[in-house]
Amino acid sequence: MGSELIYRGHEAQPASDSYSPKPDKPWASVTRAARYMLREQRLLFVLVGIAIATLIFTIIPTSRVQLAPHTTTTPILDSITYFPIETQNKFSYQHRLGIGSGNPTGKIPLGLKRKGLRIVVTGGAGFVGSHLVDRLIARGDSVIVVDNFFTGRKENVMHHFGNPNFELIRHDVVEPLLLEVDQIYHLACPASPVHYKFNPVKTIISFFTRLAKRVGARFLLTSTSEVYGDPLQHPQKETYWGNVNPIGVRSCYDEGKRTAETLTMDYHRGAEVEVRIARIFNTYGPRMCIDDGRVVSNFVAQALRKEPLTVYGDGKQTRSFQYVSDLVEGLMRLMEGEHVGPFNLGNPGEFTMLELAEVVQETIDPNARIEFRPNTEDDPHKRKPDITRAKELLGWEPKVSLRKGLPLMVSDFRQRIFGDHKEGSSSTINKASSG
Ligand SMILES: NC(=O)c1ccc[n+]([C@@H]2O[C@H](COP(=O)([O-])OP(=O)(O)OC[C@H]3O[C@@H](n4cnc5c(N)ncnc54)[C@H](O)[C@@H]3O)[C@@H](O)[C@H]2O)c1
Repeated sequence: MGSELIYRGHEAQPASDSYSPKPDKPWASVTRAARYMLREQRLLFVLVGIAIATLIFTIIPTSRVQLAPHTTTTPILDSITYFPIETQNKFSYQHRLGIGSGNPTGKIPLGLKRKGLRIVVTGGAGFVGSHLVDRLIARGDSVIVVDNFFTGRKENVMHHFGNPNFELIRHDVVEPLLLEVDQIYHLACPASPVHYKFNPVKTIISFFTRLAKRVGARFLLTSTSEVYGDPLQHPQKETYWGNVNPIGVRSCYDEGKRTAETLTMDYHRGAEVEVRIARIFNTYGPRMCIDDGRVVSNFVAQALRKEPLTVYGDGKQTRSFQYVSDLVEGLMRLMEGEHVGPFNLGNPGEFTMLELAEVVQETIDPNARIEFRPNTEDDPHKRKPDITRAKELLGWEPKVSLRKGLPLMVSDFRQRIFGDHKEGSSSTINKASSG
């Protein structure tokens, strides 16, 4: 039965077949192929093809290897914070991407298009991460967002759904995950006190440095200005080791990031992982969590809701505020550049909390009241980045002033709080540009 299902034709065969095929000539197929090759100069084309392929596969890799010593000449710029990139890992990373030492000008050889990278952004559904994802997708890269939505929102990345270059994975970075990627931007971490105090232990751990080692990806850690604690040096340079309370309520974040920096550097030194470290100063912009207790989002939401602006302490403590697009530009330059860091990424414009409240009043509601509350534990008195290194080595500095950037954030908050985007956005932007 089974064989019948497979083939029934044998029943139809004549019992005696008078047809007997001619025996095969043993060389027939070879001579047929040779004749085919010789017709219409096909052989010539084949030979030219082989010659070009040989040229590409022998000469180009050789020239890269010859140029590799360039990488070892990267100077040790600062014995504490800067490390030369001379590891085998770097070479394999660049070789894999077709960039870097073999191509010091960064130009792509004629006829070859720049290949998009495969990039993981952990925390990519959050405030900074989602803006970074926008830029990477726009550049033509394939982006995988890994996020557990603790503080992030699907709405922040929803506009990429359906794009084949975009993937979203709900996953907690404290658990292993294997992904084949070229670069890892590690942002996953609750960034505001209300959130990181919720699960302090989790704030410290992440699996992704190990993933970078395993797949040979370049790893960028988003550290923070909080590593300087309540600084005794002003403005803060990257060489400053900080003044941090190791056992306070904010320590899970401050010390967590310090530990993450240590771990990142140990993976770099010990396991030759290519790493980058950014120390981010206060950043604001659209898509920030509305009620996360960070000062800019607090003031903006309060002013829009006609609530008093709550100033903790005497309001004379200072911060610097950077618009999110400036930060994203800095992160990308750092990732693509030659230096490990750490680099301060922040806007050196320094404001007291009372000055910030005034800018918010100017932008949203001149009649907004200010209400003073007792200060929170371990609140730093001063914060201002020295960005000399980022300027010199990354060619980066912030472009958007607080008075220009704030209205863009207000427009987004207005839409999310009241759902009246268009009117709000145009009026606030106009107000800012005329003021
Ligand atoms: N925004 C700032 O002013 C600032 C300043 C200094 C440093 N940073 C750092 O930049 C990064 C991004 O900050 P942000 O302001 O966008 O914060 P955010 O809270 O908006 O984003 C963090 C994202 O990480 C996700 N996340 C948190 N824990 C996770 C986990 N265990 N697994 C998977 N996903 C997780 C959240 O859901 C969220 O989407 C953070 O690492 C933060 O420490 C930000």
